[in-house]
Amino acid sequence: MGVLVTAAGLTKTYGDLTAVAGIDFEIREGECFGFLGPNGAGKTTTVRMIHCVSPLTSGTLTVGGLPAGIGNRALKKMTGVIPQEINLDNDLTVAENLVIFARFFDIGRREAKARIAELLRFVELEAKAKCKISELSTGMKRRLLIARALINRPRLIVADEPTTGLDPQARHLIWQRLRRLKTQGTTLVLTTQYMEEAQQLCDRLVVMHEGRILKEGAPARLVEDEIGREVVEVRTPPEDDARIVGHLAGFACAHERVGDTLYFYCRDGHGTMKKLLELDLPNTLNRPATLEDVFLKLTGRSLHE
Ligand SMILES: Nc1ncnc2c1ncn2[C@@H]1O[C@H](COP(=O)(O)OP(=O)(O)OP(=O)(O)O)[C@@H](O)[C@H]1O
Ligand SMILES: [Mg+2]
Repeated sequence: MGVLVTAAGLTKTYGDLTAVAGIDFEIREGECFGFLGPNGAGKTTTVRMIHCVSPLTSGTLTVGGLPAGIGNRALKKMTGVIPQEINLDNDLTVAENLVIFARFFDIGRREAKARIAELLRFVELEAKAKCKISELSTGMKRRLLIARALINRPRLIVADEPTTGLDPQARHLIWQRLRRLKTQGTTLVLTTQYMEEAQQLCDRLVVMHEGRILKEGAPARLVEDEIGREVVEVRTPPEDDARIVGHLAGFACAHERVGDTLYFYCRDGHGTMKKLLELDLPNTLNRPATLEDVFLKLTGRSLHE
Protein backbone atom coordinates (compact mmCIF):
# COMPACT_ATOMS: atom_id res chain seq x y z
CA MET A 1 0.00 0.00 0.00
CA GLY A 2 1.39 3.41 -0.96
CA VAL A 3 1.57 6.38 1.34
CA LEU A 4 -0.79 9.26 0.52
CA VAL A 5 -0.05 11.78 3.27
CA THR A 6 3.26 12.34 5.02
CA ALA A 7 3.86 14.82 7.82
CA ALA A 8 7.22 15.52 9.45
CA GLY A 9 7.68 17.99 12.27
CA LEU A 10 4.29 19.46 11.40
CA THR A 11 3.71 22.55 13.53
CA LYS A 12 1.04 25.20 13.83
CA THR A 13 1.12 28.13 16.22
CA TYR A 14 -1.39 30.91 16.82
CA GLY A 15 0.57 33.68 18.52
CA ASP A 16 1.92 32.17 21.74
CA LEU A 17 -0.29 29.11 21.47
CA THR A 18 1.12 25.95 19.91
CA ALA A 19 -1.89 24.07 18.53
CA VAL A 20 0.15 21.38 16.75
CA ALA A 21 3.60 20.74 18.18
CA GLY A 22 5.82 19.08 15.59
CA ILE A 23 4.04 15.84 14.77
CA ASP A 24 5.00 13.04 12.39
CA PHE A 25 2.59 10.63 10.73
CA GLU A 26 1.94 8.73 7.52
CA ILE A 27 -1.46 7.96 6.05
CA ARG A 28 -1.59 5.03 3.66
CA GLU A 29 -3.62 4.89 0.50
CA GLY A 30 -6.99 3.23 1.08
CA GLU A 31 -6.94 3.14 4.87
CA CYS A 32 -9.02 4.97 7.44
CA PHE A 33 -6.64 6.93 9.63
CA GLY A 34 -7.95 8.51 12.82
CA PHE A 35 -6.98 11.45 15.00
CA LEU A 36 -8.43 10.76 18.43
CA GLY A 37 -8.14 13.35 21.16
CA PRO A 38 -9.96 15.53 23.69
CA ASN A 39 -11.20 19.09 23.02
CA GLY A 40 -8.39 21.36 21.93
CA ALA A 41 -5.96 18.52 21.17
CA GLY A 42 -5.21 19.97 17.72
CA LYS A 43 -7.23 17.57 15.55
CA THR A 44 -9.07 20.16 13.47
CA THR A 45 -5.93 22.28 13.11
CA THR A 46 -4.07 19.24 11.75
CA VAL A 47 -6.71 18.20 9.23
CA ARG A 48 -7.17 21.79 8.05
CA MET A 49 -3.53 21.78 7.05
CA ILE A 50 -4.07 18.49 5.20
CA HIS A 51 -6.91 19.92 3.14
CA CYS A 52 -5.00 23.12 2.44
CA VAL A 53 -7.11 25.78 4.12
CA SER A 54 -4.60 26.58 6.85
CA PRO A 55 -0.89 27.31 6.26
CA LEU A 56 1.75 25.36 8.18
CA THR A 57 3.93 27.26 10.62
CA SER A 58 6.79 24.82 10.09
CA GLY A 59 7.59 21.24 9.16
CA THR A 60 6.63 19.45 5.99
CA LEU A 61 3.36 17.98 4.77
CA THR A 62 2.81 16.25 1.45
CA VAL A 63 -0.41 14.86 0.03
CA GLY A 64 -0.19 12.61 -3.03
CA GLY A 65 3.43 13.70 -3.41
CA LEU A 66 2.54 17.42 -3.55
CA PRO A 67 3.41 19.92 -0.83
CA ALA A 68 0.24 20.91 1.02
CA GLY A 69 -0.22 24.62 1.23
CA ILE A 70 -3.05 27.07 1.37
CA GLY A 71 -4.82 27.41 -1.98
CA ASN A 72 -3.21 24.35 -3.54
CA ARG A 73 -5.84 23.77 -6.20
CA ALA A 74 -4.54 20.40 -7.38
CA LEU A 75 -4.86 19.03 -3.84
CA LYS A 76 -8.25 20.60 -3.28
CA LYS A 77 -9.47 18.83 -6.41
CA MET A 78 -8.58 15.41 -5.03
CA THR A 79 -9.91 16.02 -1.52
CA GLY A 80 -13.41 15.99 -0.05
CA VAL A 81 -14.02 17.73 3.25
CA ILE A 82 -16.69 16.98 5.83
CA PRO A 83 -16.21 19.92 8.23
CA GLN A 84 -16.82 19.87 11.98
CA GLU A 85 -19.19 22.86 11.74
CA ILE A 86 -22.31 22.48 9.61
CA ASN A 87 -21.67 25.20 7.02
CA LEU A 88 -24.47 24.64 4.52
CA ASP A 89 -26.09 27.60 2.77
CA ASN A 90 -29.44 28.08 4.53
CA ASP A 91 -30.90 30.19 1.73
CA LEU A 92 -30.56 27.35 -0.77
CA THR A 93 -32.21 23.96 -1.12
CA VAL A 94 -30.48 20.64 -0.55
CA ALA A 95 -29.81 20.14 -4.28
CA GLU A 96 -28.72 23.76 -4.81
CA ASN A 97 -26.11 23.38 -2.06
CA LEU A 98 -24.56 20.62 -4.16
CA VAL A 99 -24.86 22.57 -7.43
CA ILE A 100 -22.75 25.38 -5.96
CA PHE A 101 -19.99 22.93 -5.12
CA ALA A 102 -20.16 21.26 -8.52
CA ARG A 103 -19.59 24.70 -10.07
CA PHE A 104 -16.65 25.31 -7.80
CA PHE A 105 -15.05 22.16 -9.21
CA ASP A 106 -15.93 23.09 -12.82
CA ILE A 107 -18.19 20.08 -13.26
CA GLY A 108 -20.47 20.50 -16.30
CA ARG A 109 -24.22 20.93 -15.76
CA ARG A 110 -25.35 17.59 -17.07
CA GLU A 111 -22.63 15.70 -15.22
CA ALA A 112 -23.42 17.64 -12.04
CA LYS A 113 -27.08 16.73 -12.27
CA ALA A 114 -26.28 13.04 -12.57
CA ARG A 115 -23.78 13.12 -9.70
CA ILE A 116 -26.16 15.02 -7.43
CA ALA A 117 -28.93 12.48 -8.01
CA GLU A 118 -26.52 9.64 -7.33
CA LEU A 119 -25.11 11.28 -4.19
CA LEU A 120 -28.51 12.13 -2.74
CA ARG A 121 -29.41 8.46 -3.19
CA PHE A 122 -26.16 7.44 -1.51
CA VAL A 123 -26.95 9.48 1.62
CA GLU A 124 -30.69 8.70 1.48
CA LEU A 125 -31.80 12.28 0.88
CA GLU A 126 -33.47 11.94 -2.56
CA ALA A 127 -36.83 12.88 -1.08
CA LYS A 128 -35.36 16.07 0.40
CA ALA A 129 -33.72 17.45 -2.76
CA LYS A 130 -36.03 20.47 -2.95
CA CYS A 131 -36.18 21.16 0.80
CA LYS A 132 -34.59 24.18 2.45
CA ILE A 133 -31.72 23.40 4.83
CA SER A 134 -33.78 24.63 7.80
CA GLU A 135 -36.21 21.76 7.20
CA LEU A 136 -33.52 19.13 7.77
CA SER A 137 -32.67 17.33 11.01
CA THR A 138 -29.07 17.46 12.21
CA GLY A 139 -28.51 13.92 10.94
CA MET A 140 -29.76 14.90 7.48
CA LYS A 141 -27.51 17.95 7.43
CA ARG A 142 -24.52 15.80 8.30
CA ARG A 143 -25.43 13.37 5.51
CA LEU A 144 -25.69 16.27 3.09
CA LEU A 145 -22.19 17.35 4.12
CA ILE A 146 -21.01 13.87 3.11
CA ALA A 147 -22.73 14.14 -0.29
CA ARG A 148 -21.19 17.57 -0.79
CA ALA A 149 -17.73 16.25 0.06
CA LEU A 150 -18.10 13.60 -2.64
CA ILE A 151 -19.13 15.84 -5.53
CA ASN A 152 -15.62 15.93 -7.01
CA ARG A 153 -15.14 12.14 -6.59
CA PRO A 154 -12.23 12.66 -4.18
CA ARG A 155 -9.39 10.21 -3.57
CA LEU A 156 -9.08 11.48 -0.01
CA ILE A 157 -11.90 12.34 2.38
CA VAL A 158 -11.29 14.36 5.51
CA ALA A 159 -14.12 13.91 8.01
CA ASP A 160 -13.86 16.14 11.09
CA GLU A 161 -16.10 14.68 13.82
CA PRO A 162 -18.74 13.64 11.30
CA THR A 163 -21.27 12.30 13.83
CA THR A 164 -21.21 14.90 16.60
CA GLY A 165 -24.66 15.41 18.06
CA LEU A 166 -26.35 12.52 16.26
CA ASP A 167 -28.56 9.77 17.64
CA PRO A 168 -27.39 6.14 17.30
CA GLN A 169 -29.39 5.43 14.13
CA ALA A 170 -28.06 8.49 12.33
CA ARG A 171 -24.55 7.71 13.53
CA HIS A 172 -24.67 4.11 12.29
CA LEU A 173 -25.96 5.22 8.89
CA ILE A 174 -22.99 7.56 8.53
CA TRP A 175 -20.56 4.82 9.60
CA GLN A 176 -22.08 2.53 6.96
CA ARG A 177 -21.56 5.13 4.27
CA LEU A 178 -18.00 5.96 5.31
CA ARG A 179 -17.12 2.26 5.35
CA ARG A 180 -18.63 1.83 1.88
CA LEU A 181 -16.44 4.65 0.59
CA LYS A 182 -13.45 2.89 2.02
CA THR A 183 -14.29 -0.37 0.29
CA GLN A 184 -14.44 1.65 -2.94
CA GLY A 185 -10.80 2.60 -2.36
CA THR A 186 -11.15 6.09 -0.88
CA THR A 187 -8.65 7.07 1.79
CA LEU A 188 -10.33 8.42 4.92
CA VAL A 189 -8.96 10.79 7.51
CA LEU A 190 -11.22 10.95 10.52
CA THR A 191 -11.12 13.00 13.68
CA THR A 192 -13.29 11.96 16.58
CA GLN A 193 -13.73 11.99 20.32
CA TYR A 194 -15.94 8.92 20.15
CA MET A 195 -14.05 5.78 21.01
CA GLU A 196 -16.62 3.55 19.41
CA GLU A 197 -16.42 5.52 16.19
CA ALA A 198 -12.64 5.16 16.14
CA GLN A 199 -12.93 1.44 16.84
CA GLN A 200 -15.63 0.97 14.17
CA LEU A 201 -13.89 2.84 11.39
CA CYS A 202 -10.15 3.27 11.85
CA ASP A 203 -7.49 0.88 10.61
CA ARG A 204 -4.89 2.93 12.44
CA LEU A 205 -5.09 5.98 14.63
CA VAL A 206 -3.05 8.39 16.68
CA VAL A 207 -4.03 9.61 20.12
CA MET A 208 -3.43 13.37 20.23
CA HIS A 209 -3.18 15.54 23.30
CA GLU A 210 -2.07 19.17 23.61
CA GLY A 211 -0.76 19.27 20.05
CA ARG A 212 1.31 16.10 20.34
CA ILE A 213 0.90 12.49 19.30
CA LEU A 214 1.01 10.23 22.35
CA LYS A 215 0.54 6.85 20.66
CA GLU A 216 -0.07 5.35 17.25
CA GLY A 217 -1.43 1.99 16.17
CA ALA A 218 -4.39 -0.17 15.20
CA PRO A 219 -7.22 0.22 17.74
CA ALA A 220 -7.16 -3.42 18.90
CA ARG A 221 -3.36 -3.37 19.13
CA LEU A 222 -3.41 -0.23 21.29
CA VAL A 223 -5.93 -1.76 23.66
CA GLU A 224 -3.90 -4.97 23.95
CA ASP A 225 -0.57 -3.17 24.43
CA GLU A 226 -1.68 -0.38 26.75
CA ILE A 227 -4.35 -2.05 28.86
CA GLY A 228 -4.52 -5.79 28.28
CA ARG A 229 -7.55 -7.91 27.67
CA GLU A 230 -9.87 -7.16 30.56
CA VAL A 231 -10.62 -4.58 33.20
CA VAL A 232 -11.96 -5.33 36.66
CA GLU A 233 -13.50 -2.36 38.45
CA VAL A 234 -13.91 -2.39 42.21
CA ARG A 235 -15.87 0.42 43.81
CA THR A 236 -14.41 0.81 47.31
CA PRO A 237 -12.86 3.53 49.46
CA PRO A 238 -9.09 4.01 48.95
CA GLU A 239 -8.40 2.63 52.47
CA ASP A 240 -9.16 -0.85 51.07
CA ASP A 241 -6.54 -0.67 48.31
CA ALA A 242 -3.64 -2.29 50.13
CA ARG A 243 -5.78 -5.21 51.33
CA ILE A 244 -7.30 -5.86 47.88
CA VAL A 245 -4.04 -5.48 45.96
CA GLY A 246 -2.32 -7.77 48.49
CA HIS A 247 -5.02 -10.39 48.03
CA LEU A 248 -4.39 -10.40 44.28
CA ALA A 249 -0.62 -10.86 44.61
CA GLY A 250 0.41 -13.38 41.97
CA PHE A 251 -2.25 -12.31 39.49
CA ALA A 252 0.09 -9.90 37.67
CA CYS A 253 -2.55 -7.21 37.14
CA ALA A 254 -1.59 -3.55 36.90
CA HIS A 255 -3.84 -1.42 39.08
CA GLU A 256 -4.84 2.21 39.32
CA ARG A 257 -7.01 4.17 41.77
CA VAL A 258 -9.22 6.87 40.22
CA GLY A 259 -11.79 8.56 42.48
CA ASP A 260 -14.11 5.94 43.93
CA THR A 261 -12.82 3.11 41.75
CA LEU A 262 -9.88 0.74 41.88
CA TYR A 263 -9.11 -0.53 38.36
CA PHE A 264 -7.28 -3.77 37.60
CA TYR A 265 -5.95 -4.22 34.05
CA CYS A 266 -5.47 -7.91 33.47
CA ARG A 267 -5.28 -10.80 31.07
CA ASP A 268 -7.53 -13.08 33.11
CA GLY A 269 -10.47 -10.98 34.32
CA HIS A 270 -12.54 -14.02 35.19
CA GLY A 271 -9.82 -15.46 37.45
CA THR A 272 -9.30 -12.07 39.06
CA MET A 273 -13.01 -11.78 39.75
CA LYS A 274 -13.12 -15.22 41.34
CA LYS A 275 -10.24 -14.34 43.62
CA LEU A 276 -11.89 -11.02 44.53
CA LEU A 277 -15.13 -12.77 45.45
CA GLU A 278 -13.27 -14.30 48.42
CA LEU A 279 -13.12 -10.77 49.86
CA ASP A 280 -16.88 -10.33 49.66
CA LEU A 281 -16.70 -6.91 47.98
CA PRO A 282 -20.12 -5.50 47.10
CA ASN A 283 -19.46 -3.56 43.91
CA THR A 284 -17.24 -5.30 41.39
CA LEU A 285 -17.45 -5.74 37.65
CA ASN A 286 -15.42 -7.39 34.92
CA ARG A 287 -15.50 -6.12 31.33
CA PRO A 288 -13.38 -6.21 28.16
CA ALA A 289 -10.75 -3.47 27.86
CA THR A 290 -11.68 -0.75 25.34
CA LEU A 291 -10.11 2.12 23.48
CA GLU A 292 -11.69 4.38 26.08
CA ASP A 293 -9.39 2.88 28.72
CA VAL A 294 -6.41 3.61 26.47
CA PHE A 295 -7.61 7.15 25.86
CA LEU A 296 -8.12 7.88 29.56
CA LYS A 297 -4.82 6.30 30.50
CA LEU A 298 -2.92 8.39 27.94
CA THR A 299 -4.75 11.71 28.19
CA GLY A 300 -5.65 11.63 31.86
CA ARG A 301 -9.03 11.35 33.53
CA SER A 302 -9.60 15.03 34.30
CA LEU A 303 -11.20 17.69 32.11
CA HIS A 304 -9.03 19.66 29.68
CA GLU A 305 -10.50 23.12 29.31
N1 LIG B 1 -8.03 30.23 14.46
C1 LIG B 1 -7.51 30.04 15.68
N2 LIG B 1 -6.95 31.05 16.36
C2 LIG B 1 -6.42 30.87 17.59
N3 LIG B 1 -6.40 29.68 18.25
C3 LIG B 1 -6.94 28.62 17.61
C4 LIG B 1 -7.53 28.74 16.30
N4 LIG B 1 -7.99 27.52 15.93
C5 LIG B 1 -7.72 26.70 16.97
N5 LIG B 1 -7.08 27.34 17.97
C6 LIG B 1 -6.61 26.74 19.22
O1 LIG B 1 -5.78 25.65 18.89
C7 LIG B 1 -5.96 24.56 19.79
C8 LIG B 1 -6.36 23.34 19.03
O2 LIG B 1 -7.66 23.54 18.49
P1 LIG B 1 -8.36 22.50 17.51
O3 LIG B 1 -9.62 23.12 17.04
O4 LIG B 1 -7.40 22.02 16.51
O5 LIG B 1 -8.68 21.30 18.52
P2 LIG B 1 -9.58 20.01 18.30
O6 LIG B 1 -8.73 18.84 18.71
O7 LIG B 1 -10.14 19.99 16.94
O8 LIG B 1 -10.72 20.22 19.40
P3 LIG B 1 -12.30 19.88 19.37
O9 LIG B 1 -12.41 18.44 19.76
O10 LIG B 1 -12.87 20.78 20.41
O11 LIG B 1 -12.81 20.16 17.98
C9 LIG B 1 -7.01 25.03 20.79
O12 LIG B 1 -6.34 25.50 21.94
C10 LIG B 1 -7.72 26.15 20.07
O13 LIG B 1 -8.22 27.09 21.00
MG1 LIG C 1 -12.01 20.01 16.19
